[in-house]
Amino acid sequence: MDYEIRPISADEVFAFRSAITLGFGGDAKPEDNERFMTLLPLDRTVAVFDGDEIVGNLGDFPLQLTVPGGAQLPMAGMTMVGVRADRTRQGILRSMVNTYLRKAADRGDPLAGLWASEPGIYGRFGFGLATECHDVKIDNRHLQMAQPADTIKVSMIKANDLPSVVAPFWAAMATKRPGFLNRGPERWDNIIADPEHRRGPGSALRHVIATSGDDVVGYLSYRQIEKWNDFIADGSIAIQAMVGETNEAEYALWHYASNIDLFPNISFWDGATDDALAYSVSNARSVQRKLADGLYVRILDLGAALSDRTYETDGELVLRISDDLDYAAGTYRMQVTGGVAEVGETTDAPDVALDVRTLGALYLGRVCVDQLARLGEIEGEDLAVRRLGHLFATARAPWCPYMF
Ligand SMILES: CC(C)(COP(=O)(O)OP(=O)(O)OC[C@H]1O[C@@H](n2cnc3c(N)ncnc32)[C@H](O)[C@@H]1OP(=O)(O)O)[C@@H](O)C(=O)NCCC(=O)NCCS
Repeated sequence: MDYEIRPISADEVFAFRSAITLGFGGDAKPEDNERFMTLLPLDRTVAVFDGDEIVGNLGDFPLQLTVPGGAQLPMAGMTMVGVRADRTRQGILRSMVNTYLRKAADRGDPLAGLWASEPGIYGRFGFGLATECHDVKIDNRHLQMAQPADTIKVSMIKANDLPSVVAPFWAAMATKRPGFLNRGPERWDNIIADPEHRRGPGSALRHVIATSGDDVVGYLSYRQIEKWNDFIADGSIAIQAMVGETNEAEYALWHYASNIDLFPNISFWDGATDDALAYSVSNARSVQRKLADGLYVRILDLGAALSDRTYETDGELVLRISDDLDYAAGTYRMQVTGGVAEVGETTDAPDVALDVRTLGALYLGRVCVDQLARLGEIEGEDLAVRRLGHLFATARAPWCPYMF
Protein backbone atom coordinates (compact mmCIF):
# COMPACT_ATOMS: atom_id res chain seq x y z
CA MET A 1 0.00 0.00 0.00
CA ASP A 2 1.53 3.28 -1.07
CA TYR A 3 -0.17 5.54 1.40
CA GLU A 4 1.09 7.72 4.24
CA ILE A 5 -0.36 7.08 7.73
CA ARG A 6 0.01 9.81 10.32
CA PRO A 7 -1.91 12.02 12.76
CA ILE A 8 -3.40 15.19 11.26
CA SER A 9 -2.20 18.72 11.97
CA ALA A 10 -4.46 21.61 13.05
CA ASP A 11 -4.91 22.86 9.48
CA GLU A 12 -6.13 19.42 8.39
CA VAL A 13 -8.98 19.20 10.91
CA PHE A 14 -11.70 20.20 8.48
CA ALA A 15 -10.43 17.77 5.82
CA PHE A 16 -10.38 15.00 8.42
CA ARG A 17 -13.91 15.82 9.59
CA SER A 18 -15.08 15.95 5.97
CA ALA A 19 -13.63 12.47 5.42
CA ILE A 20 -15.60 11.22 8.46
CA THR A 21 -18.90 12.66 7.24
CA LEU A 22 -18.26 11.24 3.77
CA GLY A 23 -18.41 7.77 5.35
CA PHE A 24 -21.36 8.32 7.65
CA GLY A 25 -23.42 10.75 5.57
CA GLY A 26 -23.93 14.47 6.18
CA ASP A 27 -21.52 17.34 5.74
CA ALA A 28 -18.92 18.74 8.13
CA LYS A 29 -19.44 22.32 9.35
CA PRO A 30 -16.29 24.46 9.81
CA GLU A 31 -17.73 25.99 13.01
CA ASP A 32 -17.44 22.58 14.75
CA ASN A 33 -13.64 22.36 14.26
CA GLU A 34 -12.73 23.86 17.61
CA ARG A 35 -15.08 21.65 19.64
CA PHE A 36 -13.84 18.62 17.72
CA MET A 37 -10.28 19.37 18.84
CA THR A 38 -11.32 19.58 22.50
CA LEU A 39 -12.76 16.05 22.24
CA LEU A 40 -10.06 14.42 20.13
CA PRO A 41 -6.43 15.50 20.62
CA LEU A 42 -4.75 15.79 17.21
CA ASP A 43 -2.07 13.25 18.10
CA ARG A 44 -4.84 10.70 18.62
CA THR A 45 -6.07 10.92 15.06
CA VAL A 46 -5.01 8.34 12.47
CA ALA A 47 -5.31 9.52 8.87
CA VAL A 48 -4.37 7.74 5.68
CA PHE A 49 -3.20 10.08 2.94
CA ASP A 50 -3.03 9.45 -0.76
CA GLY A 51 -0.98 12.50 -1.74
CA ASP A 52 -2.77 15.32 0.07
CA GLU A 53 -6.16 13.58 0.12
CA ILE A 54 -7.44 11.78 3.21
CA VAL A 55 -8.75 8.35 2.21
CA GLY A 56 -8.95 6.75 5.66
CA ASN A 57 -9.76 8.14 9.10
CA LEU A 58 -9.83 6.85 12.66
CA GLY A 59 -10.06 8.64 16.01
CA ASP A 60 -8.87 7.43 19.42
CA PHE A 61 -10.65 9.07 22.38
CA PRO A 62 -8.88 9.08 25.75
CA LEU A 63 -11.53 7.39 27.93
CA GLN A 64 -11.77 5.88 31.40
CA LEU A 65 -13.70 2.62 31.59
CA THR A 66 -15.12 1.38 34.89
CA VAL A 67 -14.25 -2.27 35.50
CA PRO A 68 -15.76 -4.61 38.13
CA GLY A 69 -14.82 -3.30 41.57
CA GLY A 70 -14.99 0.35 40.47
CA ALA A 71 -11.47 1.05 39.15
CA GLN A 72 -11.45 3.29 36.08
CA LEU A 73 -8.88 2.12 33.54
CA PRO A 74 -7.52 4.06 30.57
CA MET A 75 -9.28 2.87 27.43
CA ALA A 76 -8.36 3.90 23.89
CA GLY A 77 -11.80 4.54 22.40
CA MET A 78 -11.86 3.83 18.67
CA THR A 79 -14.27 6.12 16.85
CA MET A 80 -14.95 7.95 13.55
CA VAL A 81 -13.71 5.04 11.44
CA GLY A 82 -14.04 5.25 7.69
CA VAL A 83 -12.33 4.46 4.42
CA ARG A 84 -13.24 6.38 1.28
CA ALA A 85 -15.60 4.32 -0.85
CA ASP A 86 -13.19 4.22 -3.81
CA ARG A 87 -10.41 2.75 -1.61
CA THR A 88 -12.15 0.06 0.42
CA ARG A 89 -10.94 -3.56 0.73
CA GLN A 90 -7.29 -2.68 0.17
CA GLY A 91 -6.29 -3.12 3.81
CA ILE A 92 -6.59 0.56 4.85
CA LEU A 93 -8.78 -0.19 7.89
CA ARG A 94 -6.40 -2.92 8.98
CA SER A 95 -3.38 -0.61 8.84
CA MET A 96 -5.24 2.14 10.74
CA VAL A 97 -6.33 -0.27 13.49
CA ASN A 98 -2.79 -1.67 13.75
CA THR A 99 -1.38 1.87 14.12
CA TYR A 100 -3.97 2.84 16.75
CA LEU A 101 -3.56 -0.33 18.84
CA ARG A 102 0.24 -0.08 18.75
CA LYS A 103 0.09 3.52 19.98
CA ALA A 104 -2.40 2.62 22.72
CA ALA A 105 -0.24 -0.27 23.93
CA ASP A 106 2.94 1.87 23.84
CA ARG A 107 1.11 4.52 25.91
CA GLY A 108 0.30 1.80 28.46
CA ASP A 109 -3.48 1.73 27.96
CA PRO A 110 -4.53 -1.73 29.18
CA LEU A 111 -7.76 -1.61 27.15
CA ALA A 112 -9.17 -0.50 23.83
CA GLY A 113 -12.89 -0.21 23.16
CA LEU A 114 -15.47 0.78 20.57
CA TRP A 115 -19.13 0.90 19.61
CA ALA A 116 -19.51 -0.71 16.19
CA SER A 117 -21.54 0.52 13.24
CA GLU A 118 -21.12 -2.97 11.81
CA PRO A 119 -20.45 -5.61 14.47
CA GLY A 120 -18.94 -8.13 12.04
CA ILE A 121 -15.75 -6.14 11.50
CA TYR A 122 -13.87 -5.93 14.81
CA GLY A 123 -13.59 -9.47 16.22
CA ARG A 124 -10.62 -10.05 13.89
CA PHE A 125 -8.77 -7.29 15.73
CA GLY A 126 -9.43 -8.85 19.16
CA PHE A 127 -12.53 -6.87 20.23
CA GLY A 128 -15.25 -8.83 22.06
CA LEU A 129 -18.79 -7.80 22.94
CA ALA A 130 -18.52 -6.75 26.60
CA THR A 131 -21.85 -4.99 27.23
CA GLU A 132 -25.33 -5.29 25.81
CA CYS A 133 -28.27 -2.91 26.01
CA HIS A 134 -32.01 -2.87 25.51
CA ASP A 135 -33.62 -0.75 22.85
CA VAL A 136 -36.75 0.14 24.85
CA LYS A 137 -40.04 1.31 23.35
CA ILE A 138 -43.14 2.27 25.28
CA ASP A 139 -46.55 3.45 24.13
CA ASN A 140 -47.93 5.22 27.19
CA ARG A 141 -51.49 4.55 26.00
CA HIS A 142 -50.91 0.91 27.06
CA LEU A 143 -48.94 1.63 30.20
CA GLN A 144 -50.20 1.80 33.73
CA MET A 145 -47.63 3.19 36.14
CA ALA A 146 -48.18 3.81 39.84
CA GLN A 147 -47.02 7.14 41.25
CA PRO A 148 -43.29 7.27 42.04
CA ALA A 149 -42.03 7.53 45.62
CA ASP A 150 -42.90 10.98 46.99
CA THR A 151 -39.39 11.34 48.41
CA ILE A 152 -38.09 11.77 44.84
CA LYS A 153 -38.57 15.10 43.09
CA VAL A 154 -38.17 15.44 39.32
CA SER A 155 -37.25 18.84 37.83
CA MET A 156 -36.06 20.28 34.53
CA ILE A 157 -32.72 22.04 34.56
CA LYS A 158 -30.94 24.26 32.05
CA ALA A 159 -28.18 22.77 29.90
CA ASN A 160 -25.70 25.30 31.32
CA ASP A 161 -26.22 23.80 34.78
CA LEU A 162 -25.06 20.33 33.70
CA PRO A 163 -21.39 20.76 34.74
CA SER A 164 -22.25 21.92 38.25
CA VAL A 165 -25.39 19.82 38.91
CA VAL A 166 -25.12 16.60 36.90
CA ALA A 167 -21.38 16.10 36.25
CA PRO A 168 -20.58 15.25 39.92
CA PHE A 169 -23.49 12.81 40.01
CA TRP A 170 -22.36 11.17 36.77
CA ALA A 171 -18.77 10.90 38.07
CA ALA A 172 -20.02 9.21 41.26
CA MET A 173 -22.21 6.80 39.27
CA ALA A 174 -19.26 6.02 37.00
CA THR A 175 -17.48 4.24 39.85
CA LYS A 176 -20.45 2.02 40.60
CA ARG A 177 -21.06 0.01 37.50
CA PRO A 178 -18.81 -1.97 35.15
CA GLY A 179 -18.99 -0.60 31.63
CA PHE A 180 -19.59 3.02 32.67
CA LEU A 181 -17.59 5.79 31.00
CA ASN A 182 -16.87 8.99 32.82
CA ARG A 183 -17.53 12.26 30.99
CA GLY A 184 -14.83 14.93 31.24
CA PRO A 185 -15.69 18.68 31.10
CA GLU A 186 -15.15 18.73 27.30
CA ARG A 187 -17.89 16.12 26.90
CA TRP A 188 -20.38 18.10 29.00
CA ASP A 189 -19.52 21.18 26.90
CA ASN A 190 -20.24 19.14 23.78
CA ILE A 191 -23.64 18.15 25.17
CA ILE A 192 -24.41 21.76 26.08
CA ALA A 193 -23.43 22.89 22.55
CA ASP A 194 -26.06 20.55 21.02
CA PRO A 195 -25.73 22.04 17.50
CA GLU A 196 -28.90 22.11 15.44
CA HIS A 197 -27.52 19.90 12.67
CA ARG A 198 -26.99 17.05 15.15
CA ARG A 199 -30.59 16.97 16.38
CA GLY A 200 -32.11 14.96 13.52
CA PRO A 201 -35.89 15.38 13.57
CA GLY A 202 -35.85 16.18 17.31
CA SER A 203 -35.85 19.28 19.50
CA ALA A 204 -32.91 20.65 21.44
CA LEU A 205 -31.91 18.37 24.33
CA ARG A 206 -34.06 18.66 27.45
CA HIS A 207 -32.39 17.88 30.78
CA VAL A 208 -34.08 16.59 33.92
CA ILE A 209 -32.80 15.56 37.33
CA ALA A 210 -34.28 13.45 40.11
CA THR A 211 -33.43 14.59 43.62
CA SER A 212 -33.87 13.14 47.07
CA GLY A 213 -33.56 15.98 49.55
CA ASP A 214 -30.55 17.96 48.34
CA ASP A 215 -28.95 15.01 46.55
CA VAL A 216 -29.10 14.38 42.81
CA VAL A 217 -30.09 10.73 42.39
CA GLY A 218 -30.97 10.58 38.71
CA TYR A 219 -30.44 12.24 35.35
CA LEU A 220 -32.44 12.11 32.13
CA SER A 221 -31.92 13.83 28.79
CA TYR A 222 -34.22 13.57 25.81
CA ARG A 223 -35.45 15.15 22.61
CA GLN A 224 -39.07 15.72 21.66
CA ILE A 225 -40.27 14.77 18.19
CA GLU A 226 -43.55 16.40 17.29
CA LYS A 227 -46.14 14.45 15.30
CA TRP A 228 -49.87 14.69 14.67
CA ASN A 229 -52.17 12.10 13.10
CA ASP A 230 -55.50 13.59 11.95
CA PHE A 231 -55.17 16.30 14.62
CA ILE A 232 -54.39 13.70 17.31
CA ALA A 233 -51.06 14.08 19.06
CA ASP A 234 -48.62 11.22 18.41
CA GLY A 235 -45.31 12.78 19.45
CA SER A 236 -42.25 10.94 20.75
CA ILE A 237 -39.80 11.32 23.60
CA ALA A 238 -36.42 10.04 22.43
CA ILE A 239 -34.31 9.45 25.54
CA GLN A 240 -30.59 10.06 25.03
CA ALA A 241 -29.38 9.26 28.55
CA MET A 242 -30.99 7.99 31.72
CA VAL A 243 -29.13 7.06 34.88
CA GLY A 244 -30.59 6.54 38.33
CA GLU A 245 -28.76 5.82 41.54
CA THR A 246 -31.62 3.69 42.84
CA ASN A 247 -34.52 1.84 41.36
CA GLU A 248 -36.88 4.50 42.80
CA ALA A 249 -34.92 7.26 41.03
CA GLU A 250 -34.99 5.40 37.69
CA TYR A 251 -38.68 4.72 38.08
CA ALA A 252 -39.40 8.39 38.79
CA LEU A 253 -37.57 9.37 35.58
CA TRP A 254 -39.43 6.77 33.52
CA HIS A 255 -42.68 7.99 35.05
CA TYR A 256 -41.83 11.57 34.10
CA ALA A 257 -40.90 10.60 30.51
CA SER A 258 -44.09 8.55 30.13
CA ASN A 259 -46.39 11.33 31.27
CA ILE A 260 -45.55 14.22 28.96
CA ASP A 261 -48.75 15.42 27.31
CA LEU A 262 -48.90 15.12 23.50
CA PHE A 263 -45.91 12.70 23.46
CA PRO A 264 -47.24 9.17 23.99
CA ASN A 265 -44.30 7.29 22.42
CA ILE A 266 -41.17 6.84 24.51
CA SER A 267 -37.93 5.29 23.30
CA PHE A 268 -34.51 4.73 24.81
CA TRP A 269 -31.98 2.99 22.58
CA ASP A 270 -29.50 2.28 25.40
CA GLY A 271 -31.39 0.86 28.38
CA ALA A 272 -29.54 -1.38 30.82
CA THR A 273 -30.44 -5.04 30.33
CA ASP A 274 -31.25 -5.33 34.05
CA ASP A 275 -33.45 -2.22 34.19
CA ALA A 276 -36.42 -2.99 36.43
CA LEU A 277 -39.04 -0.88 34.65
CA ALA A 278 -40.84 -3.77 32.94
CA TYR A 279 -41.33 -5.44 36.34
CA SER A 280 -42.51 -2.22 37.98
CA VAL A 281 -45.50 -1.65 35.70
CA SER A 282 -48.78 -3.53 35.72
CA ASN A 283 -48.29 -4.82 32.17
CA ALA A 284 -44.68 -5.91 31.53
CA ARG A 285 -45.47 -6.45 27.85
CA SER A 286 -46.15 -2.75 27.38
CA VAL A 287 -42.39 -2.17 27.80
CA GLN A 288 -40.91 -3.59 24.60
CA ARG A 289 -37.23 -4.47 24.77
CA LYS A 290 -34.96 -5.42 21.92
CA LEU A 291 -31.47 -6.69 22.76
CA ALA A 292 -28.61 -4.86 21.06
CA ASP A 293 -24.83 -4.93 21.21
CA GLY A 294 -23.09 -2.23 23.21
CA LEU A 295 -19.40 -1.71 24.01
CA TYR A 296 -16.72 -3.97 22.49
CA VAL A 297 -13.54 -4.35 24.56
CA ARG A 298 -10.04 -5.37 23.49
CA ILE A 299 -7.49 -6.32 26.13
CA LEU A 300 -4.00 -4.99 25.41
CA ASP A 301 -2.26 -5.53 28.74
CA LEU A 302 -3.64 -8.76 30.12
CA GLY A 303 -1.83 -8.65 33.48
CA ALA A 304 -3.05 -5.12 34.27
CA ALA A 305 -6.57 -5.73 32.95
CA LEU A 306 -7.11 -8.88 35.02
CA SER A 307 -5.50 -7.63 38.21
CA ASP A 308 -7.13 -4.17 38.18
CA ARG A 309 -10.68 -5.56 38.26
CA THR A 310 -12.10 -7.45 41.24
CA TYR A 311 -13.93 -10.80 41.37
CA GLU A 312 -17.02 -11.89 43.27
CA THR A 313 -15.67 -15.41 43.89
CA ASP A 314 -12.22 -16.76 44.61
CA GLY A 315 -10.59 -19.52 42.57
CA GLU A 316 -7.69 -20.56 40.42
CA LEU A 317 -7.48 -21.16 36.70
CA VAL A 318 -4.87 -21.50 33.97
CA LEU A 319 -5.92 -19.72 30.78
CA ARG A 320 -4.34 -20.06 27.37
CA ILE A 321 -5.06 -16.89 25.40
CA SER A 322 -4.58 -16.66 21.65
CA ASP A 323 -4.17 -13.25 20.06
CA ASP A 324 -3.40 -12.77 16.35
CA LEU A 325 -1.89 -9.36 17.13
CA ASP A 326 0.16 -10.76 20.02
CA TYR A 327 -0.64 -8.20 22.73
CA ALA A 328 -2.17 -10.69 25.16
CA ALA A 329 -1.11 -14.10 23.82
CA GLY A 330 0.26 -16.58 26.35
CA THR A 331 -0.62 -19.02 29.11
CA TYR A 332 -1.44 -17.40 32.44
CA ARG A 333 -2.23 -18.64 35.91
CA MET A 334 -4.88 -16.59 37.62
CA GLN A 335 -5.21 -16.94 41.39
CA VAL A 336 -8.10 -14.99 42.91
CA THR A 337 -8.03 -14.51 46.68
CA GLY A 338 -10.36 -12.15 48.53
CA GLY A 339 -11.64 -10.93 45.17
CA VAL A 340 -8.19 -9.84 43.98
CA ALA A 341 -6.33 -11.63 41.17
CA GLU A 342 -2.67 -12.43 40.93
CA VAL A 343 -1.79 -13.13 37.32
CA GLY A 344 1.46 -14.51 35.92
CA GLU A 345 2.68 -16.49 32.93
CA THR A 346 3.05 -20.21 33.41
CA THR A 347 4.18 -23.30 31.54
CA ASP A 348 1.43 -25.40 33.17
CA ALA A 349 -1.25 -27.03 31.03
CA PRO A 350 -4.26 -24.74 30.52
CA ASP A 351 -7.69 -25.41 32.06
CA VAL A 352 -9.36 -23.30 29.37
CA ALA A 353 -8.29 -21.91 26.00
CA LEU A 354 -9.88 -18.86 24.41
CA ASP A 355 -9.12 -15.98 22.08
CA VAL A 356 -8.48 -12.48 23.42
CA ARG A 357 -11.78 -11.30 21.88
CA THR A 358 -13.63 -13.92 23.95
CA LEU A 359 -11.84 -12.77 27.09
CA GLY A 360 -12.90 -9.20 26.16
CA ALA A 361 -16.51 -10.42 26.04
CA LEU A 362 -16.22 -11.85 29.58
CA TYR A 363 -14.08 -9.10 31.04
CA LEU A 364 -16.73 -6.71 32.39
CA GLY A 365 -18.92 -9.48 33.81
CA ARG A 366 -21.30 -10.40 31.00
CA VAL A 367 -22.72 -13.82 31.79
CA CYS A 368 -22.15 -15.78 28.60
CA VAL A 369 -19.56 -18.59 29.05
CA ASP A 370 -22.03 -21.35 28.34
CA GLN A 371 -23.06 -19.72 25.07
CA LEU A 372 -19.45 -19.00 24.07
CA ALA A 373 -18.41 -22.58 24.87
CA ARG A 374 -21.27 -23.90 22.71
CA LEU A 375 -20.04 -21.66 19.91
CA GLY A 376 -16.61 -23.27 20.24
CA GLU A 377 -15.03 -20.04 21.47
CA ILE A 378 -13.94 -21.53 24.81
CA GLU A 379 -12.23 -24.91 25.04
CA GLY A 380 -11.94 -26.85 28.26
CA GLU A 381 -13.65 -29.39 30.50
CA ASP A 382 -17.19 -28.37 31.53
CA LEU A 383 -16.16 -27.75 35.13
CA ALA A 384 -13.25 -25.51 34.12
CA VAL A 385 -15.47 -23.53 31.74
CA ARG A 386 -17.99 -23.05 34.55
CA ARG A 387 -15.22 -21.94 36.90
CA LEU A 388 -14.19 -19.36 34.30
CA GLY A 389 -17.81 -18.16 34.16
CA HIS A 390 -18.12 -17.91 37.95
CA LEU A 391 -14.85 -16.01 38.24
CA PHE A 392 -15.66 -13.34 35.66
CA ALA A 393 -19.42 -12.87 36.17
CA THR A 394 -20.74 -9.86 38.09
CA ALA A 395 -24.06 -9.69 39.95
CA ARG A 396 -24.89 -6.40 38.22
CA ALA A 397 -24.96 -6.59 34.42
CA PRO A 398 -22.27 -4.43 32.82
CA TRP A 399 -23.73 -1.48 30.94
CA CYS A 400 -22.21 1.34 28.92
CA PRO A 401 -24.49 4.38 29.11
CA TYR A 402 -22.48 6.45 26.67
CA MET A 403 -21.90 5.77 22.98
CA PHE A 404 -18.84 7.48 21.53
C1 LIG B 1 -15.92 -0.72 7.05
C2 LIG B 1 -14.72 -0.05 6.44
C3 LIG B 1 -14.05 0.87 7.45
C4 LIG B 1 -13.72 -1.15 6.00
O1 LIG B 1 -12.51 -0.56 5.50
P1 LIG B 1 -11.55 -1.34 4.48
O2 LIG B 1 -10.33 -0.51 4.30
O3 LIG B 1 -12.31 -1.73 3.28
O4 LIG B 1 -11.17 -2.65 5.30
P2 LIG B 1 -9.88 -3.57 5.06
O5 LIG B 1 -9.65 -3.73 3.58
O6 LIG B 1 -8.73 -3.08 5.86
O7 LIG B 1 -10.39 -4.93 5.65
C5 LIG B 1 -9.93 -5.45 6.86
C6 LIG B 1 -10.71 -6.71 7.15
O8 LIG B 1 -12.05 -6.35 7.50
C7 LIG B 1 -12.98 -7.02 6.65
N1 LIG B 1 -14.10 -6.10 6.40
C8 LIG B 1 -14.04 -4.90 5.81
N2 LIG B 1 -15.26 -4.33 5.79
C9 LIG B 1 -16.11 -5.20 6.38
C10 LIG B 1 -17.49 -5.18 6.65
N3 LIG B 1 -18.26 -4.14 6.30
N4 LIG B 1 -18.03 -6.25 7.29
C11 LIG B 1 -17.26 -7.32 7.65
N5 LIG B 1 -15.93 -7.38 7.41
C12 LIG B 1 -15.37 -6.33 6.78
C13 LIG B 1 -12.21 -7.34 5.40
O9 LIG B 1 -12.78 -8.43 4.73
C14 LIG B 1 -10.82 -7.64 5.97
O10 LIG B 1 -10.83 -8.95 6.51
P3 LIG B 1 -9.52 -9.87 6.60
O11 LIG B 1 -8.31 -8.97 6.63
O12 LIG B 1 -9.67 -10.61 7.88
O13 LIG B 1 -9.55 -10.74 5.41
C15 LIG B 1 -15.12 0.77 5.18
O14 LIG B 1 -15.80 -0.07 4.30
C16 LIG B 1 -16.00 1.97 5.49
O15 LIG B 1 -15.47 3.04 5.75
N6 LIG B 1 -17.35 1.83 5.49
C17 LIG B 1 -18.24 2.95 5.76
C18 LIG B 1 -18.14 3.50 7.20
C19 LIG B 1 -18.23 2.40 8.23
O16 LIG B 1 -18.98 1.47 8.12
N7 LIG B 1 -17.40 2.52 9.26
C20 LIG B 1 -17.34 1.50 10.30
C21 LIG B 1 -17.44 2.21 11.57
S1 LIG B 1 -17.70 1.08 12.90
